[in-house]
Order: sequence, then C-alpha cells, then structure tokens
Amino acid sequence: MARTERGDWCLHGAGPQHLNTFEILLESKAVVDANIRKKESFNELQKEIQHQILRAQADIEEKQIEESKNERQHKEECEAIRKLIALQPPRSETQKIISDLEKEIATLEAENASCVRTLDLHEKHLSFAARVDELQNTTEDEQKSLADELRVVMEEQEISIEKADFFPYLNSLEASDIMHQKRGKGGKMETYFQDGKEEVIQAWYMDDDEGDQRLPHHREPKEFVSLEKLSELGIVSWRLSGGDNYETDENLKKIREARGYSYMDICDVCPEKLPNYEDKIKNFFEEHLHTDEEIRYCLEGSGYFDVRDENDRWIRIAIKKGGMIVLPAGIYHRFTLDTDNYIKAMRLFVGEPVWTPFNRPHDDLSARKEYLETFVKKEVGGRAVEAR
Ligand SMILES: [Fe+2]
Repeated sequence: MARTERGDWCLHGAGPQHLNTFEILLESKAVVDANIRKKESFNELQKEIQHQILRAQADIEEKQIEESKNERQHKEECEAIRKLIALQPPRSETQKIISDLEKEIATLEAENASCVRTLDLHEKHLSFAARVDELQNTTEDEQKSLADELRVVMEEQEISIEKADFFPYLNSLEASDIMHQKRGKGGKMETYFQDGKEEVIQAWYMDDDEGDQRLPHHREPKEFVSLEKLSELGIVSWRLSGGDNYETDENLKKIREARGYSYMDICDVCPEKLPNYEDKIKNFFEEHLHTDEEIRYCLEGSGYFDVRDENDRWIRIAIKKGGMIVLPAGIYHRFTLDTDNYIKAMRLFVGEPVWTPFNRPHDDLSARKEYLETFVKKEVGGRAVEAR
C-alpha cells in the first residue's frame, strides 16, 4: 500500500505484508470513524439531555412557583376560614339554638295539626249547616203540603170556613185551631174581637143566697172569674158592636161563617113582649143542658148566664149590649134577666135549630160525657162532676 500525492492510502504497488497492515489500518480507521460518529452521537444526545434537563428544571421552577402561589393562596383561605370560624358562636350555643328551633318546629307542626282539625270541623260545621238548611226547606215544604192537605180536608168535611175571605193571614195551625174549636174544644178564634170585652162580659162566683135570681149574687168579698177561666170551661165569647146593625156587621158575618151558624133569629125578653113573663123567667132559670151549643148575642139590654165550673160551683156571667157568648154542648147552665128586665138577643144555630133543654140530671147524654171528657176531667185530674 502506498500514499497518493494528496496523502491518501492506496493498494497500488503493495505486497501481501503491506495488505495486512492496510486492512488493519482500514479497520482501525473504521473503528475510529465509528467512535467519532458515536462521540458525535453521544454529544448530540448529551446536548439533548442537557436541553431536557434545562427544560425540566424550568418546569420544576415553574411548578415550584405555582405551588408556592397555591400554598400562599391556601394559607390565605385557611386564615379566612379560621377568622370566620372565630366569628361563629360556640358549639354549645349552636346546639342550643338547634334544639330551640327543633322545639319551635314541633310546636308549629302541632299548631298545623290543630289548624287542620279546626278546618275539618269547620267543613263539617258548614256541611251540617247546609244539611240543616236543606232540612228546614224540606220541613217548610212539608208544612205547606200539610196545610194544603188540611185545607182539602176542611173543604171535604164542608166546614164553612172561607179561610181566604175570613182571615187571610191564618196559617195551617190557626185553621186547625178553628177545626178544633168547631168540635167544641175551645180554640184561638175566641181571642179575636177581644178589645173591651170585659166591659160587656163579666163573670163571678155566686153566693148561696136563694133570693131574687135577678140580683147579682156576688160573694162577699167579690170573687170575679176571668174570661180565660171561662175559656177553660169551653165558653167562647166576643165583643161586637151590638144594636141593630147586625145585618151589616162584618165581624158577626165572619164568626157565623167560621163556625157554621147558618140559623139566626132575634128574641125580645121583657115583661111587655113575653107572655107569662114570670113563668118563662123561672123556666129559663132551671138548670139544664143542650146537646148543641147555645149561642147568644146581646143586641140590647143585659142578662145573666149561670154555668157550673169543674167543681160544680155556680159562675154568673153578666152579658151586656155587644157581648156574644157560646155555651158548649153538655154544660149545665141557666139564664135569667137582671133587674133591668130586658134583653134583645140573637139566637144562632148550626143548621135547623134544636132548643130542647135537658134539665139536670142528664149525665147519661153523650153530649154531657163528651163535655166532661173534654173540659172537666182534664181540669180536675180525671174527677168528673157528678149529677146532683
Ligand atoms: Fe139553655
């Protein structure tokens, strides 16, 4: 192997010894070149590593800065929390507040439950009130229905009560009252035309003097009897105008229509107009009863009707002009003029008149029994008045 002019090695002119050396040199050179390349590669790698180290250090520094920043921020937050905690009340106080709040909640819940019950009761009350209203409406309807039925019954029984013309304000009870009285059992109708009735109708218990029947025969002291007492004995009375205007007397017309007094006549009782006056007066004074009502309306003058009370005592009823009286069927009674010896009386009757007197005793008559049952037994606890 020999060198060229430029100094490079070449194999021209070299022998076998020279070739081995050359190969060694080539191999050495290759090794050197490889080492050089490795070194260069290493240097590059080193540079890269160095670069990465620097970059990592930069990252670490950045991280450290950030971490430091976070740490400082956390410290600030912790400090703020610590201050906030320091501002809060102690735990025991908080627990007490919580306990008080729980009690308040329990109280409110109890009040709420009470309000719910109250509302429930109100709803039931409203429901009940609505039911009561409904029942009241139903009751009113039934009352109207009953009143209509009663009106029909009255018409069917030919009770001559022209209700609409008579007392437009009568309700069903008053109509029933009229029916009741119609059967001779008293009633409210007698309460009409009451003004000043005591001036024309008075009553008192009689003494036991057998003297002149035309005298008042007051007891000593006087013992007056109220009109209410007479009513309890079944005696109905009114005050009308009296006199001669009876044909146009609207009140008399109403009474006659209500009670069915279809018959009417006028009697003058005085010595001048009544033959055998004294005998007639004595006959009138015989105690008797009738099987129908005895109705008298004093147009002029005056007189006495005597009736027995529940204890068989005589009650004298003095009647003057304007007084109208109804003695019930079955009551023992008698009549006499007073000392003025004059009365002009209207007699009334339901249907054809029957004036027959049944002198006492006539307790077997049904009219008498019915009278006792209706007006006497109830007054004395079942102790009926016996005939003499
Ligand atoms: Fe009579």
